[in-house]
Amino acid sequence: MGIMINGPINYVSGKYKMMNVSHTPVSSKAKKVTTHVLTEMKMKGEKISMLTAYDYSMARLIDQAGVDVILVGDSASNVMAGHETTLPITLDQMIYHASSVIRAVSNALVVVDLPFGTYQGNSKEALNSSIRIMKESGGHAVKMEGGVEIEESVRRIVGAGIPVMGHLGLMPQSIYQYGTYVVRAKEEAEAEKLLSDARILQEAGCFALVLEKIPAELATRVAKEVEIPVIGIGAGGGVDGQVLVLHDMLGITQEFSPRFLRRYHTLAEEIMGAVGKYIKDVKTKDFPNSKEQY
Ligand code: KIV
Repeated sequence: MGIMINGPINYVSGKYKMMNVSHTPVSSKAKKVTTHVLTEMKMKGEKISMLTAYDYSMARLIDQAGVDVILVGDSASNVMAGHETTLPITLDQMIYHASSVIRAVSNALVVVDLPFGTYQGNSKEALNSSIRIMKESGGHAVKMEGGVEIEESVRRIVGAGIPVMGHLGLMPQSIYQYGTYVVRAKEEAEAEKLLSDARILQEAGCFALVLEKIPAELATRVAKEVEIPVIGIGAGGGVDGQVLVLHDMLGITQEFSPRFLRRYHTLAEEIMGAVGKYIKDVKTKDFPNSKEQY
């Protein structure tokens, strides 16, 4: 039996009304997800689910479906704005996306990416950017890419009471340094640096870590060696949780098809089909009919 929840506002019979939305949650969690809940989940061996969201409507749906963590990723730069990389998105734009997500969420932990150029300069800049995100969007934590290079910033941000999630492996903000989006840390030197960076981030106070596109064996080793939850994307099943970009897993984006992506729907086809029907109905004067007018 699904639960009834107050849904979005709908325009009905000349008045705005709250819609009732029937929904069967995957896991009925009354509890808000905090960083401590994620640590407990790792200790109990319960896998963590994380998805991106950048707007109110999608965030509301995935929170109601019971996702543990919502990432307001700088992938908004690609998915929402159509840029080729994550580099152009600004702090103001991230705050806009994050505040829309926050208004929708009741249970999930909301983590917001610090965009490129707003934390690499020095730890004071990193702290100021994090404070803006927390104050102006209401987000619950920030995420940043890098290892030992950002250690001082992580310490300073955590010292100010702001939870930080780390991000190692393929770090899309460094794409022009890599030159390509291939699997990272296949060579021993890079794998050793990644392991050392993971330990440093844990020591510096990160509450969790994202590992992107690295060999599954290495990711499993990191998850075993650190106590903080490790959430993977293209990092295999031996980690403590998984994250995917929502628009990729729903099949809204079509061009992007890495091996690690499982598509749970083909929404692009559904959306284009529905819009095609609407266009036809308008052109053939089938819409609106006599019941759909005043
Ligand atoms: O921005 C993003 O969506 C991310 C995920 C790929 C982890 O950082």
